[in-house]
Amino acid sequence: MLRCRAVSAVDFDHLSPEVALDLHPTLARMRAECPVAHSERHGGFWFVSRYDDVLRVAQDWETFSSEHGITVPGGPTPVPAIPEQLDPPLHREFKRLINAHFTPAKVLEHEDETRVLVNHLIDGFAERGSCDFMGEFAQPLPGRVFFEMFLHAPSDELAEINRLATLASTPTTKEAREARGQMLRWIGEFAERRRHEPPRGDVVDAVLAAEIEGRPITDVEVVGVLQLLLFGGLDTTAGALGMMLLRFCREPELAELLRSRPELVPAAVEELLRLDGPFTFIRRTAMRDTEIGGCPIRAGDAVLISWASANRDEDEFDHPDRFDLDRPSNRHIAFGAGPHRCAGSNLARMNLRISVHELLQRLDDIRLADGADPEPFHPGYSRAPTEVPLVFTPRARTA
Ligand code: HEM
Repeated sequence: MLRCRAVSAVDFDHLSPEVALDLHPTLARMRAECPVAHSERHGGFWFVSRYDDVLRVAQDWETFSSEHGITVPGGPTPVPAIPEQLDPPLHREFKRLINAHFTPAKVLEHEDETRVLVNHLIDGFAERGSCDFMGEFAQPLPGRVFFEMFLHAPSDELAEINRLATLASTPTTKEAREARGQMLRWIGEFAERRRHEPPRGDVVDAVLAAEIEGRPITDVEVVGVLQLLLFGGLDTTAGALGMMLLRFCREPELAELLRSRPELVPAAVEELLRLDGPFTFIRRTAMRDTEIGGCPIRAGDAVLISWASANRDEDEFDHPDRFDLDRPSNRHIAFGAGPHRCAGSNLARMNLRISVHELLQRLDDIRLADGADPEPFHPGYSRAPTEVPLVFTPRARTA
């Protein structure tokens, strides 16, 4: 069979430490040399790297299913991630249920509380002039916002959940499977506790009381929805924050620009998500014979699309590797596209916007600690630096 195949693509492994370390140069080569490549790894899969092709696969859910096939090598997850591993029309029922709790207006209700929390975390290290940014800010922040404001879960259980979420996001390891199992157990117990507590009108109550296709939601579905909210919200936002701070260390003039012109922060967050979005790949399964970019795809073939690659496609973005706030348009797909587009994008944007603003207003001259080498990144579907040790000069507080 004719296959659009480059020699270098046969062994391409998106989960290898080498690809994690050299992600963007590797993706640029794939786009240039073999934009629809076939790899023999992980049982064989197509790798799609150009913006237009990624968008088409993401939008055409009838041809490219999320329901069939697994995203994590090593066996199917015991509980499907809902709604990510469902196709419409069932997908729509769950998505509607979740979306209602993460609209821009719902999220904005938590803006002041989030700003207080962000400053509280910064208070923990500002005077010291140094911090372990991932451990002291990037990981606790999204978790605390989510636990305290959306799930209403006990804060003292968060550290363990954060640890498990980070382990579980590196899908090649045995620890990841164990961590995922422990997270599922915690979620099941948490849901059970909440069933016996007075309702709070939050997303957990809505999930517990949901009717799906006219019947009550099942226990497995409850855990499936809550696990995705947790997985979706913690490691991705932490990764985005870590990547943003790394960029500020490497491009201090960018930090200075946003410090002196804070009104640019929302647009800067979008450009930073385009450049360094933490969600790098996702798998679909072809449901019928088709083609992508002229390459024949058979029903049943695994197709991996790369948001990270699409977002730096030179056919869509001029000088794609450069931070540029003057782009005529920034149609990045760091939050995905089509029916599965991220349910938490409003929340993620608020956390990122407030964090970048407050961190830059309170810390000057942010640098990596001497001798620090924050790579390697975890290999996997989400991209986060393992650690970001920072030094800085605290600024006097204005308010
Ligand atoms: C910077 C942070 C984030 C990024 C880059 C991100 C990215 C993404 C992407 C690319 C998808 C699409 C997956 C697919 O096509 O199958 C997605 C889906 C999803 N995300 Fe996020 N996400 C972030 C934060 C969050 C947060 C805070 C939440 C929590 C509310 C969340 C919840 C979800 C859910 C529930 C889905 C599945 C939606 C569906 O299948 O219809 N995400 N996310």
